[in-house]
Amino acid sequence: MYLTITLSILFFVQCTSKHQVTAASLVGTATGKGLKDYYKDYFPIGVAVSMASLHGPDSALIVEEFNSVTPENDMKMGPIHPSENVYNWKNADAIVDFAVSRHIRIRGHNLCWHNQEAGWMFKGPNGEPATKELLLQRLKDHIFAVAGRYKGKIYAWDVVNEAVDDSDDTTQVYRKSNWYKICNGPDFIDSAFKYAHEADPDAKLYYNDYNSEHPVKREKIFKLLQKLIAGHAPIDGVGMQAHWKLNDPSPDELRKALDEVTSLGLKVQFTEMDITIRLPKPNPASGTMPAATAVPDSGYTPLAEAKQIAQYKMAFDIFRKYKRFITGVTFWNVSDRSSWLDGRGGGLMGGAAAGANTPRVVRKAYPLLFDENRQRKKAYWAVVNF
Ligand code: XIL
Repeated sequence: MYLTITLSILFFVQCTSKHQVTAASLVGTATGKGLKDYYKDYFPIGVAVSMASLHGPDSALIVEEFNSVTPENDMKMGPIHPSENVYNWKNADAIVDFAVSRHIRIRGHNLCWHNQEAGWMFKGPNGEPATKELLLQRLKDHIFAVAGRYKGKIYAWDVVNEAVDDSDDTTQVYRKSNWYKICNGPDFIDSAFKYAHEADPDAKLYYNDYNSEHPVKREKIFKLLQKLIAGHAPIDGVGMQAHWKLNDPSPDELRKALDEVTSLGLKVQFTEMDITIRLPKPNPASGTMPAATAVPDSGYTPLAEAKQIAQYKMAFDIFRKYKRFITGVTFWNVSDRSSWLDGRGGGLMGGAAAGANTPRVVRKAYPLLFDENRQRKKAYWAVVNF
């Protein structure tokens, strides 16, 4: 069975290569059709952007292929609000102007997170931990300032990002972040939604998280959503980040996650899609990591390519079936030339952590639909030929 699937994928790869070369050479010129056009009867197709992507050679591709953008980093709490009463609007404004002037919609990312946080918010006037009241007041001020500034321009916000615990312990529903600890529970999540709705009543409000298809985490997210709905939080949907692997999630896991969320009357956006070709981390229990040089970067092999094509095709086949519930699919970065994944993990997993015993071996993730030369990959055609 597996052999048959792999063979038919390899056959598909062979058969589409001519098509791909022809069309790829047209990227950036007027092909007349980009991802957004193939999916115009389904949902907007977006991409995460930085200042570099707006001004460099990515910008033509962004305009041709996508009809939604998400600032990759420039609206996060720390970058945009580095200290009390100090806001860095420059990059966020530039992204908003870029998109508005080209009639591209904008998703805001994000209003409350434990990473890339505004660390000053957690401290009281004398350096002691902030009280719950002070922290929530700051959260409110922050959300009013940011969501208020882009009112009418940002159509959807990731209001709270990654607040659910990752462990297999089913009793630990919430991540023990500074937000959770200082607020002594998850109420900050309800509050963030309430503030965001007050700041911009027309914006669609999402809870955003990763591994939302893994059964244990899926059930924890479900509990959070039930709690939010029971408390009348103004939530419109769930962002499933979709940082996926060649065999993860399975089609059943993906459908189950969609069925569960939509059974609550919520919409879904896939907010940060990429499918890495990297293998899972070596098991730390097996002792020290093998020397990175033992596993050199294999590059984008035909087998990895075939599996990635299959995974992308599987995902978009399901997305189209659920189009009633899906209000957007966004890719996290533009092309394989530069993915956030390439800088993550050490030694075997990525390029970042070099040391005396772990020489740097860059193992790129090749996770997107455009290659290192910004050309459409075969996975692109698998997604648009339906
Ligand atoms: C990532 C960015 O892509 C990186 O540039 C940055 O260094 C770290 O954050 N989940 C999220 C995103 O919600 O905000 C993260 O973006 C990727 C994981």
